[in-house]
Amino acid sequence: MSDSTPVRIGIVGVGNIGGALARHFVAAGHEVAVANSRGPETLVDLVAELGERAHAATVAEALRFGEVDVVSIPLGRIGELPADGVAGKVVIDTNNYYPGRDGQIAALDDDSTTSSELLAVQLPGARIVKAFNAIYASWLAERGLPAGDPARLAIPISGDDAEAKRIVAALIDEIGFDAVDAGTLAVGGRKHQPDTPPYGAEAGAAELRGLLGL
Ligand SMILES: NC(=O)c1ccc[n+]([C@@H]2O[C@H](COP(=O)([O-])OP(=O)(O)OC[C@H]3O[C@@H](n4cnc5c(N)ncnc54)[C@H](OP(=O)(O)O)[C@@H]3O)[C@@H](O)[C@H]2O)c1
Repeated sequence: MSDSTPVRIGIVGVGNIGGALARHFVAAGHEVAVANSRGPETLVDLVAELGERAHAATVAEALRFGEVDVVSIPLGRIGELPADGVAGKVVIDTNNYYPGRDGQIAALDDDSTTSSELLAVQLPGARIVKAFNAIYASWLAERGLPAGDPARLAIPISGDDAEAKRIVAALIDEIGFDAVDAGTLAVGGRKHQPDTPPYGAEAGAAELRGLLGL
């Protein structure tokens, strides 16, 4: 367990990615609220597994609870998220655009924006950091390693708020990965979306910087 100050983290969407993050963050000593679209009563088993530092919540409650929030749901459903209570907060966006799942989104199809900027529109004032979108859920769950291990994997992050990126990078380090800053949501987000070289790359920090063209 980490000896860092515990952070309250609200996790909306606790499937492959959100569930892995909940396990990591609890193990690192943080307090988590977990939420899905079906309600807290459907998360009893997960909370029992996570232990005393976790509780189930509604989506709105989880977003309010977190000092840092995580949104890890199908992109096509972000329009369902309530915007109350997130202004000024760090919100980690793990989401990717898969038209077969999410439906066609014209502004992404013509590249006039990025998926994380769409989330920023949905959650006004949130300090969005795109992270964990480019790593396979099984690697996120199982391949964390101590800092300095030569086999440690790196995770690209992007965002428009430098302090928010530092906070997210510290959380990533705690759970066993190196964060590599790819730039703003507009620039970096495009560099580590699906079908780019960093997406799903089995790379350490130096190699990932190369894949990002940094
Ligand atoms: N799987 C991967 O390897 C991977 C890797 C990187 C990024 N991603 C991206 O990360 C996101 C999550 O992926 P995943 O694989 O973890 O998905 P998943 O296993 O399908 O889990 C999605 C979670 O979101 C919840 N959810 C769905 N709609 C919701 C809503 N409107 N409000 C609140 N919760 C909602 C689901 O629960 P209920 O249905 O019960 O509400 C479930 O807990 C996606 O955008 C995905 O593209 C996935």
